[in-house]
Amino acid sequence: MSFTIEKNKELKDITSFHISAKADYYATYSTAEELRKLSMTEEFLNNEILNLGEGCNVLFAGDFHGMILHSCIKGFKRYDKDEETVFAIAGAGEKWDDFVNWTIGEGLGGVENLAGIPGSVGAAPVQNIGAYGCEVGSVIHNVECFDVITRQTVTLKGDECGFGYRDSIFKKEGKGRYIVLRVSFRMKKSDKAANLTYGPLADLEKRIQHAPTIHEVADEIRKIRAAKLPDPDVIGNTGSFFKNPVVRIYFYKEVMSVLDPDIPYYETDTPPYVKIPAGWLIEHAGLKGYRIGGAEIYPGQCLVIANRGGATSEDVLKLSDFVVREVKRKFGVTLQPEVNIIDTKIKVTILGSGTSKGIPEVGCYCPVCTSDAKEDKRMRCSALVETGGMKILIDVSPDFRQQALNADISVLDAALITHNHYDHVGGFDDLRPFCALGKFPVYLRKDVNSDLHHRLDYCFKDHLYPGVPSFEMHEIENSPFLINGLKVIPVTVMHGKVPIVGYRIGDFAYLTDVKTIPEEEMEKLEGLDVLVLNALRYKDHFAHLTLDEALALIQEIKPKKTYLTHFCHEIGKHAELLKKLPDNVLPCYDGLTFITH
Ligand code: EPU
Repeated sequence: MSFTIEKNKELKDITSFHISAKADYYATYSTAEELRKLSMTEEFLNNEILNLGEGCNVLFAGDFHGMILHSCIKGFKRYDKDEETVFAIAGAGEKWDDFVNWTIGEGLGGVENLAGIPGSVGAAPVQNIGAYGCEVGSVIHNVECFDVITRQTVTLKGDECGFGYRDSIFKKEGKGRYIVLRVSFRMKKSDKAANLTYGPLADLEKRIQHAPTIHEVADEIRKIRAAKLPDPDVIGNTGSFFKNPVVRIYFYKEVMSVLDPDIPYYETDTPPYVKIPAGWLIEHAGLKGYRIGGAEIYPGQCLVIANRGGATSEDVLKLSDFVVREVKRKFGVTLQPEVNIIDTKIKVTILGSGTSKGIPEVGCYCPVCTSDAKEDKRMRCSALVETGGMKILIDVSPDFRQQALNADISVLDAALITHNHYDHVGGFDDLRPFCALGKFPVYLRKDVNSDLHHRLDYCFKDHLYPGVPSFEMHEIENSPFLINGLKVIPVTVMHGKVPIVGYRIGDFAYLTDVKTIPEEEMEKLEGLDVLVLNALRYKDHFAHLTLDEALALIQEIKPKKTYLTHFCHEIGKHAELLKKLPDNVLPCYDGLTFITH
């Protein structure tokens, strides 16, 4: 046997949402060696790679322009360690519930509370699947993986997998790098169920009049699941569409319970954080059974979005956006998807396109500053990039609050910072609404980070004033890094004499405040679909490109399309500037959106 590669694969029947989408390539393999050989093919090397188990936790937002990998590594084995402990090893390509049944048949306890969960063994550690008081990470001994970078097999111990609530290293630093081959579970040689704390199981012993066996617990859980969750073979769905938000108790008491004192919460193992049942919030926002197109909030369990026939990914995403907005409006908390949204499109919104003083300039009455055209009102520079199910901000301008309101931003996953000039970082305090779920991730150069620690010292003290924003600062080098698996390439450019950063994501790049680009950085800009580039005015400036300099640079970089930004009023009116530019160069304006790959 060898690996297989299929082209133009329809995904409707191999994903549990049963929504149509195509993948450029679909590859299967049955051994680690086959995967190693596959990883050396042109198709593998030249494409974005995505692992797909049983397709039970993904939504394809459109066709997938890359290669999907599907493991067919099979087999269950047991190694008896001692009188009490057995290591149960399962191939990534086995169905999760087949594994649960096998362990029960072998008289091994540990995963019975996870009975009936759709999906594959390989996906279980990735998602750290959890239900009825058990998370799989707590019983994982180790995970054998193929490392795409070294092309070697590596074994990660359970405590190296970064397990958290529906989270693991495989969704973060390890995304796109580690492909799960086999998982080893630490099982108990016992027929007696050990974990009966979760609500609906608590009275099981009383009901059946003896200590429940693992078999009985699994049966009970299958019954509860069947009553609440739709069978994906009959009604397309991916289980919980949203995560239960984990918020600081301070936020719960000061914001949420003020909006509605009945909102329930549960303690977590990580105080001061508490967990809020998202299903309750969605139901009490009045959205039970709410439909957009073929997508529905499933009445039996509001955490689920169901495909009631003919749903498109747009229906599901529109419904999900609506739910997020309504829950935020009513209860003050932002829901985040639990399902993996696969989106190779990049949507960019220009939030601000003006230079440091903005347009109109305060106290200026020139024709540009007094123009009525909305395109001539320019806030300070910043952009929103939406891709891979994430919303990433580039720079936090002093106008950020207004920009967030204008663009209706209710969720943000991270911010990328180009440099520390006030017009690019002056709005940091207004990131507060995005810090409620924990520290907000910011990616920036080391020098910018130390400067922000001075400017925003109140955010980094040992004893914080309640409610101040909290940030997780990631210092970047001049080499690619990953945000939840999304590859971001920093491009060092010169702002006069100061080195600053631009960013490339896929075939889109955002470069602001450029005067020159070092020769060695130019190759990072090859083959761009869309470039956003600054062009201050006509007259020379020591630190910014003029319009002519920008046009000359565009001729060198050769992107398919360029949008110019960071204008001062001397650039003239938008409508007039538009007429002066070549066909593939357009001026930005605030609120402009475009989609690229
Ligand atoms: N609730 C409502 N309305 C609803 C749904 C729930 O008021 O429409 C209330 C329930 O009454 C209950 C609370 O919310 O008081 C929690 O509900 P439930 O016990 O059903 O669990 P859940 O929080 O909705 C989580 C997991 C499920 C898992 C169950 C059982 C997440 C995102 N979901 O759901 O996992 O099966 O607990 O442990 O953590 C999945 O991940 O796909 C999944 C189904």
